Amino acid sequence: MSGSGFFLSFEGADGSGKSTQAKRLAADLRAEGYDVVLTREPGGSTGAEEIRRLLVEGEPNRWSPKTEILLFTAARRDHIERTILPALAQGKIVISDRFADSTRVYQGAARAELRALVDTLHRLVIGRVPDLTLVIDIDAKTGLKRGLARNSGEDRFEELGAGFQQKLRDGYRRLLTDFPDRCIGIDGNGDEAAVAQRVRAALKGHLP
Ligand code: TYD
Repeated sequence: MSGSGFFLSFEGADGSGKSTQAKRLAADLRAEGYDVVLTREPGGSTGAEEIRRLLVEGEPNRWSPKTEILLFTAARRDHIERTILPALAQGKIVISDRFADSTRVYQGAARAELRALVDTLHRLVIGRVPDLTLVIDIDAKTGLKRGLARNSGEDRFEELGAGFQQKLRDGYRRLLTDFPDRCIGIDGNGDEAAVAQRVRAALKGHLP
């Protein structure tokens, strides 16, 4: 852990249940007296939420893969400057629903050779890595069904289809082997309470 707070990210494909779990964990930790900032990507600060709309709405091929990576990275820079680092400096627990691993996995799934660009940009302009990352895994078909059922108008990535969802799942599995020190896989199948219990078990010994 670096800084005085604790930085936790949730990752997983669309419909994995990570947003539900992030919210639930934030509420539980607050009830236990922790000072928690719950945030999300893309977004999490005023400027980054504006960039979010450019990213999640509209045609699936609206941006070239490189432009898309730059937009995600610009949003993340604003998010980390305005929201994450100030909260960590105040000793808070920051829970982010997605962070840089989403760019590695999503943009890397679309075009494998772009993974290096993502990593280089991260090193140059973001720098900060979560203290712990929980990767929620669920089978690709269930995830896609859950995601599209929400009809949120933010389906640009879901609309890339089932093959893409499988690539995402593989990408997240690879993340667990690439960053074994900070990434823990969580079985996302079953009901919300059961998954929440797995989340708490994974956190044991990590929280300050
Ligand atoms: P998110 O709000 O987490 O969607 P959901 O609640 O459906 O999981 O993220 C919006 C979409 O943006 C999602 O399909 C994942 C995608 N995304 C990327 O492709 N790269 C990124 O770096 C991030 C943060 C998100």
